[in-house]
Amino acid sequence: MRTKKPLFRLRNPTSATRVAAFGGRFIAIAAAILSCAAVIQPAWAADAVEKKLPVPKTKKNDLNPLPAGEKTVTTHAPFEDGDCSLCHKNKDPKEPGPISLPVNELCLGCHEDFQQVLARKSSHGAAQESCVNCHNPHNSKLPKLLVEEPGSLCLSCHEDIRKLATDSKVKHDALTVEAKCSNCHNPHGANVEHLLNKLAFDLCVNCHGQDNLKDHAGKTLTNIKKLLDQNPEWHFPVAAKDCSACHQPHGGDNFRLLIQEYPPQFYSPYDPKLYALCFECHEETVLQDPQTTTLTQFRNGSTNLHYLHVHKTERGRTCRACHEVHASKQKHQIRDAVPYGSKGWMLKINYTQTPTGGSCEKTCHEKRSYTNSIATAVKPK
Ligand code: HEC
Ligand code: HEC
Ligand code: HEC
Ligand code: HEC
Ligand code: HEC
Ligand code: HEC
Ligand code: HEC
Ligand code: HEC
Ligand code: HEC
Repeated sequence: MRTKKPLFRLRNPTSATRVAAFGGRFIAIAAAILSCAAVIQPAWAADAVEKKLPVPKTKKNDLNPLPAGEKTVTTHAPFEDGDCSLCHKNKDPKEPGPISLPVNELCLGCHEDFQQVLARKSSHGAAQESCVNCHNPHNSKLPKLLVEEPGSLCLSCHEDIRKLATDSKVKHDALTVEAKCSNCHNPHGANVEHLLNKLAFDLCVNCHGQDNLKDHAGKTLTNIKKLLDQNPEWHFPVAAKDCSACHQPHGGDNFRLLIQEYPPQFYSPYDPKLYALCFECHEETVLQDPQTTTLTQFRNGSTNLHYLHVHKTERGRTCRACHEVHASKQKHQIRDAVPYGSKGWMLKINYTQTPTGGSCEKTCHEKRSYTNSIATAVKPK
């Protein structure tokens, strides 16, 4: 019988960085599921917490009404009305004087529905502080009375995100197409944490539900929605609907916006650093020992087949040779076929699972089987 023990043990998710990246969601589920598995204290638990740049609560804008004759795109109804005393001390447009109430009391006095928006689970500090951080109360050359074009408006206060969006090697067009930041965030308040319009998973899968989406090198990206619909064996963090457990939504320096390194190719000389992504959650020791009867089920007797395939000075097979990290038809995220070469030809794996192991055939090699049952794992003396 196959042992049920989880062999790649989940690392102890106590790092503040991970907690931030997980938003707490995934850990709770993982901890519940793996509560009986021994958890190894990871080396990276002591990782320095990323230093966050401060986010200013207010921003200085030119709030004057546009000079007469300038082309306006939006005019605020109460300003159009001409009675400045709706908000200012005086009625007279030449001498309106100071405003009669604190800004947000003025705005929320008429925009009563926004009281509910700001009371949502996640509420924007910038809107709590002052509506005129982003809106001109009179008129504007931009839609929605905005003081600045939406992308740069948000980045003017969010320096961390600005760095990711502009300085990263891998940029994400989600930030620049259509509604920009508002593709994913509500500028005022939202029922999902981090001001998200919907669960991140739903946002991601919605845009990544098309066949012809291309990356910046012109390579067609997998239709993730279709992949998930057609492949029932979802990798744990995908099943936990946590795309940002592995991807940085705003941009990053790693291949495919990944939070850690992962080799982009089919072959790679072995270097544990290259698999830092997988080792965020899995134990790297499984690849270190050529012989084992405990560290992995992918072994023939005591020969560690993970080691055999991956741990090579040249042409080591990267995890993608056998695993589709999002979802697959077979258990253990074993894929049916893998893209081989830049033209996208698919090399079939033809994996068959058996009660005591499995086999692959007509793939990189002729049929090879492995047996990982305890009986055969004990080497004869
Ligand atoms: C919907 C409310 C509202 C109405 C109506 C309104 N204002 Fe204002 N106005 C504001 C707010 C809010 C400010 C920013 C004041 C502050 O931050 O202290 C402001 C500021 C100003 C300023 C100073 C800009 C600056 O940067 O200091 C001028 C000038 C001004 N308003 C003119 C007018 C005139 C003229 C009218 C009438 C034709 C008018 N406003 C009607 C809300 C309004
Ligand atoms: C006296 C009532 C009143 C006050 C005070 C008021 N608004 Fe409005 N606002 C309106 C009305 C009316 C509209 C148009 C509503 C519509 O079209 O649905 C509007 C529309 C808007 C719009 C949408 C503009 C567009 O063209 O899409 C924004 C943004 C806005 N207000 C922001 C503010 C801010 C910020 C304040 C506070 C400085 C404020 N409002 C104060 C009445 C008010
Ligand atoms: C961080 C910037 C920011 C702040 C602060 C902000 N808004 Fe907005 N607001 C936006 C953007 C961007 C839009 C247009 C995109 C959208 O509708 O989501 C918008 C749209 C609006 C609209 C038009 C909604 C519609 O559906 O047409 C209203 C009304 C409005 N804001 C009112 C307010 C009020 C009231 C406050 C203060 C409580 C406020 N905003 C604070 C950025 C901001
Ligand atoms: C005036 C500065 C300012 C502007 C402009 C601004 N923000 Fe913010 N934003 C803040 C502050 C302050 C916070 C609260 C930061 C904190 O608590 O650490 C915040 C928090 C956030 C958060 C995190 C919420 C959370 O719960 O984690 C998101 C997402 C966000 N802003 C998105 C936006 C978007 C999108 C825009 C443009 C529509 C924008 N911001 C424009 C100041 C700003
Ligand atoms: C593709 C969707 C998407 C877009 C577009 C997007 N974000 Fe986010 N943002 C997210 C997700 C998802 C999170 C939560 C991250 C997590 O769970 O680790 C987040 C978190 C944040 C946070 C709070 C956490 C942090 O990392 O500081 C801020 C601030 C923020 N976004 C600002 C922005 C700004 C500004 C823009 C536009 C330039 C933007 N976002 C565009 C998806 C997006
Ligand atoms: C508004 C639409 C939109 C949303 C929402 C969106 N994406 Fe994307 N994404 C794109 C587009 C367009 C591309 C192709 C261009 C590019 O590479 O930026 C892309 C590319 C990518 C890439 C490949 C980047 C590369 O160049 O290697 C990854 C990975 C990715 N997205 C993940 C995500 C994740 C995870 C989420 C949810 C947090 C998400 N996307 C949400 C539009 C979106
Ligand atoms: C366990 C980590 C992990 C999770 C969780 C994850 N991804 Fe990925 N993602 C990867 C890796 C690794 C790659 C690179 C795969 C490769 O090239 O073989 C990738 C690649 C991608 C790509 C590029 C696909 C292509 O054709 O090259 C997109 C788009 C993407 N992911 C979106 C998502 C979305 C959407 C989610 C949430 C449903 C998600 N990812 C969840 C690890 C993850
Ligand atoms: C965010 C954490 C996380 C990351 C990053 C991650 N995994 Fe996982 N993975 C898990 C969890 C949790 C499980 C479920 C473990 C269990 O059931 O014992 C899992 C399960 C798996 C399984 C299936 C185990 C089985 O027997 O069914 C494979 C294969 C796998 N991961 C491969 C990878 C690869 C390859 C990478 C790197 C590209 C990776 N994982 C990155 C969390 C992660
Ligand atoms: C040559 C194919 C192949 C490669 C390359 C490969 N795996 Fe596997 N892996 C498998 C097979 C087959 C299984 C299922 C073993 C079983 O249960 O019978 C497996 C199982 C797993 C499991 C479940 C726990 C276990 O060990 O039984 C994890 C986690 C995993 N692999 C992670 C990885 C990571 C991370 C990489 C890259 C560093 C990788 N694999 C590379 C074939 C491969």
